[in-house]
Amino acid sequence: MSYYEIMGGRPLSGTLAIHGAKNSVLPILAACLLVPGQCIIHNCPDLSDVSATLDILRLLGCRAEREEDTVTIDASALSRSDIPQHLMREMRSSVIFLGALLARLGTAELSYPGGCELGPRPIDLHMAALRSLGAEILEEQGTLCCRRCRGGLQGREICLSIPSVGATENAMLTACGCSGVTTIVGAAREPEITDLQGFLQAIGAQVTGAGTSVVTIQGGGPFHPAEYRVMGDRIAAATYLCGTAAAKGEVEVTGVAPDTLTAVLSCLKEAGCAVHTAPDRISLICAGPLGGISPVRTAPYPGFPTDAQAILMAALAGGEGATLFVENIFDARYRHVDELRRMGADIQLAGRAAMVSGVGRLHGASLRSTDLRGGAALVVAALGAEGTTQVWELCHIRRGYQSLDKNLRALGADIRQIP
Ligand code: EPZ
Repeated sequence: MSYYEIMGGRPLSGTLAIHGAKNSVLPILAACLLVPGQCIIHNCPDLSDVSATLDILRLLGCRAEREEDTVTIDASALSRSDIPQHLMREMRSSVIFLGALLARLGTAELSYPGGCELGPRPIDLHMAALRSLGAEILEEQGTLCCRRCRGGLQGREICLSIPSVGATENAMLTACGCSGVTTIVGAAREPEITDLQGFLQAIGAQVTGAGTSVVTIQGGGPFHPAEYRVMGDRIAAATYLCGTAAAKGEVEVTGVAPDTLTAVLSCLKEAGCAVHTAPDRISLICAGPLGGISPVRTAPYPGFPTDAQAILMAALAGGEGATLFVENIFDARYRHVDELRRMGADIQLAGRAAMVSGVGRLHGASLRSTDLRGGAALVVAALGAEGTTQVWELCHIRRGYQSLDKNLRALGADIRQIP
């Protein structure tokens, strides 16, 4: 099994182009099912979650080909609407296929996505939204069998009690197959929702309001082929910026819009970093120790993103001063804490709260990634730590980071994958 070996303490410097956003390209690839033709997706990151999604599209009867960071999907010959359990297990966010398959074929069958490293991952909001639009969903022995009711899918107002990103996306895709207008009230406002709206508009769907809490979709189609460029990955950008804050140095990340990670940049500035921005780039300079900052409470966008919680914590754990974190989105998103403690971190947990007291400098250790962002957080911590750190279970990191070690080496880090 491979691992990263990282010699900490090397300042980072240089410019890095950020890859396309995982959490944007996954629903956009699912949305390609709406089009009986070819769609070309640019800035598509090379991630294991994306590979799993392309495998599902091929299994359903689509052509899916990659040439560098451009992926071509042709769903003309879509012939199946059932996703086998082994592929669902590989990637729980495949639940996003539900809406697109219902809209295009009127049926969908997939196994319950189940929980993951972050705790239980319910899909009750997805189910309620799709049922509201006319889907009949039978849940038997862990399988969801969905089909549109006799009267077909009918647009209507949907209210989401939680601004769920996935439920918003599934409702948008199902609504594209409805007759009439669907209004999603209480929609998630994440930038990835706005990116999905951009793609849907490109294929001819009438979708407006993304980025606000009310999204409106005039269903019906037909939908035509399109080319689209996926937004930059704001969480990957936050990871490299927090890595620079931990290791010190001066790094510019390009291909990402600063206004998609305002909350993270605000924390890094409060901790003592200098941050400069332009429409598609962010540069960060960090020379001295990071200080403690105001409480970091994760929240739906535009609040502090839960996906950046572990990453920022890892940087602050090696600084000075204390910071309170409160994880409000997921139930089990502190699994990286035990690993950071192996590096000498002083973190006290109490339910959703984590009190991080900076210890000046962490020390190297042999660590195990527990989940995607938790694994990235260990790399961030290792970059600023004294001595050598090993990070194992790289499969988690590969789900969401393209060439993490290669990119960090290009910025001056001493990191290599063994073997
Ligand atoms: C998306 O997950 C992202 N994944 C997550 O990123 C991200 O952390 C999350 O949104 C929040 O921003 C993708 O986009 C592929 P939610 P999603 O539905 O859609 C509860 C990463 O690291 N909920 O917004 O699954 C849920 O339990 C991943 O890149 C219900 O109760 O998240 C959670 O507490 C991790 N019922 C809250 O809502 C439902 O039906 C927010 O979840 C759905 C969700």
